[in-house]
Amino acid sequence: MKTLSSFVVAAAFAATLSPAIAEEAAADHGKAAAAVAPGGKPEKVAVCAACHGEVGVSTAPLFPNLAGQHRSYIEVALHAYKSGARKNAVMAGQAVGLSDADIKALAVWYSSQKPVLYTVSPEGGAKATAAK
Ligand code: HEC
Repeated sequence: MKTLSSFVVAAAFAATLSPAIAEEAAADHGKAAAAVAPGGKPEKVAVCAACHGEVGVSTAPLFPNLAGQHRSYIEVALHAYKSGARKNAVMAGQAVGLSDADIKALAVWYSSQKPVLYTVSPEGGAKATAAK
């Protein structure tokens, strides 16, 4: 019984986790900044979407997919582009204008999108398969 109740608690926790993180990110924005529209989509996604797609499935192989990437990875990457610790001319220009709240909200958004997995065939090339 203990195992079952732990499972129930864990499942309930998992179910509430994403909205909780989204709320935390939204709260960080403060009232004035309000960079997150209702539904949790950060306004700045519109800019990123040109290359990474609105849900993080990129528009060309040159641009990394962000869908389902770890939230912390995205945050660290954006801070690194902004500070210059990670050097890339394109992303430096993108990250320079992002506030900490923007970065957090974008990381929450992209990390919570459905990832696209790739299977590499022996002949080379990658075939995209949507994750279930
Ligand atoms: C003009 C195209 C373009 C736009 C717009 C753009 N990016 Fe990027 N992004 C790139 C490219 C190219 C890279 C790969 C850079 C590198 O090699 O470090 C990248 C890399 C990244 C990475 C690191 C991914 C990884 O796997 O390491 C993150 C996170 C990211 N972008 C987030 C964003 C966000 C958030 C926005 C919107 C604010 C944005 N990007 C806008 C082109 C773009």
